[in-house]
Amino acid sequence: MVERRTVGIVGLGHVGLATAVAFAQHGLTVLGYDTDSDRVRDLARGRTPIFEPELAQLLARHTKSGRLRLEESHREIAKEASAIFLAVPTPSTMGGSIDLSFLSRAAIEAADAIKRSGEWRLLVIKSTVVPETAETFIGPLVEKTARLRPGKDFSVASNPEFLAEGTMVRDAVNPLRVVIGVNDGRSEKLLRNLYAPFRTEIVVLTPSGAELVKYASNAMLANRVSFANEFSRLAIEAGVDVYDIMRVIGMDPRIGEKFLAAGPGFGGSCFSKDLKALLCWARDHSIELPLVEATLKTNERQAGAIVDILEESAPGLKGRTVAVLGLAFKKGTSDTRESRAYPMIDELLRRGANAVLYDPVAIETFRLGIKSSDRPYDSSRVTYSRTLENALSSSDYAIIQTDWDEFKEAPPKIWAKLSGKLVVDARRTLDPVRLRRFGVEYCAVGLGGLKS
Ligand code: UDX
Repeated sequence: MVERRTVGIVGLGHVGLATAVAFAQHGLTVLGYDTDSDRVRDLARGRTPIFEPELAQLLARHTKSGRLRLEESHREIAKEASAIFLAVPTPSTMGGSIDLSFLSRAAIEAADAIKRSGEWRLLVIKSTVVPETAETFIGPLVEKTARLRPGKDFSVASNPEFLAEGTMVRDAVNPLRVVIGVNDGRSEKLLRNLYAPFRTEIVVLTPSGAELVKYASNAMLANRVSFANEFSRLAIEAGVDVYDIMRVIGMDPRIGEKFLAAGPGFGGSCFSKDLKALLCWARDHSIELPLVEATLKTNERQAGAIVDILEESAPGLKGRTVAVLGLAFKKGTSDTRESRAYPMIDELLRRGANAVLYDPVAIETFRLGIKSSDRPYDSSRVTYSRTLENALSSSDYAIIQTDWDEFKEAPPKIWAKLSGKLVVDARRTLDPVRLRRFGVEYCAVGLGGLKS
């Protein structure tokens, strides 16, 4: 039988929505479902819950054309879609391992719906999960809870995503490769068929292979960032510029230039969470991963290393106010998960400074992050500013934590507010020559030799 080209997406967060619009854009029919009914209602009205370039337009286009339909339960999805993608969160537990509760709930509900459909269905795990999850956890769970026969009534596959925030839709529509982890020919054929319009290389592995690829990819990328950050400290000591060093090593095609930009450390929803989950999984299998441990350790120190740069050039931090400019974990997003602004502010407070915080889009999400972390700031020491200008006028020093264009493009009168004061550019985004013209003292991550 020719498999129908209809897919179901369960979980309409960043990944689920980007995947949904990508399939719709390539001509497939997509049925979406999320347990958050408010979210589904908003989406049906054309309101996007997250900021991601191109997402709102494509959602509007495909919900209007009917190619993307929002459903009220798993049942409608399993009735029509031969492949059901599970794109639900897999957050960290307190110990760092992944919390599979959302995934197992989604799988149990899907299993019940598959049973009712009476047809073979493929459950595809899109969420990031450690190796063996598809084969030894989700497969047996579906089998047991709905009494479905593996291979006959359902199969489980893994299909990790490699989407970066800010370019998620573009990455999902034009993936560099599609990795599918399958155990049987029928699942492979179906996934190949669904991804054929994407015209990209399809790599076929086992489910555990596909699961491990995702972790290997993020561990390598995070490792490169930490490598550049370690060298940023050496470069300052050696009186050289780490950006020169990384640019030159990147000329070697065996190394390449990407992901070697020293900064305040990596943040975001993936790198730390995934590396911690990988460490836990390895530990459960009695395997040590010193390289992954070191990647995290270097990252944990980097926000402090940025404050060191400030402290070494500033006459003193005690009682002084530092403007932390940029709260998002990188530019182009309002996401502040694992943002290096959090440890940076903690470090400033620990060293006796006060902080004034500014971000063009992420202040609200940052505040929510603080609220949910259960460690509210003392409002006499940490304040928020609505404008860059106010943040600069009310501070003695500034640190660029996110490389927003607004900072780079700010008019002279704004930077003049820091005249005679010091700015630490943790993203290497400002023009030091221009700043010095306004009498601003400039220091930056990995930039040695400034005093000579
Ligand atoms: C990452 C991966 O890129 C993506 O493939 C995966 O699916 C999810 O995790 P994302 O977290 O959106 O995506 O952001 P990314 O652009 O990779 O940056 C991660 C962090 O590293 C950011 O804080 C960024 O500022 C930092 N970074 C990145 C650097 O400090 N230097 C670099 O050279 C690159």
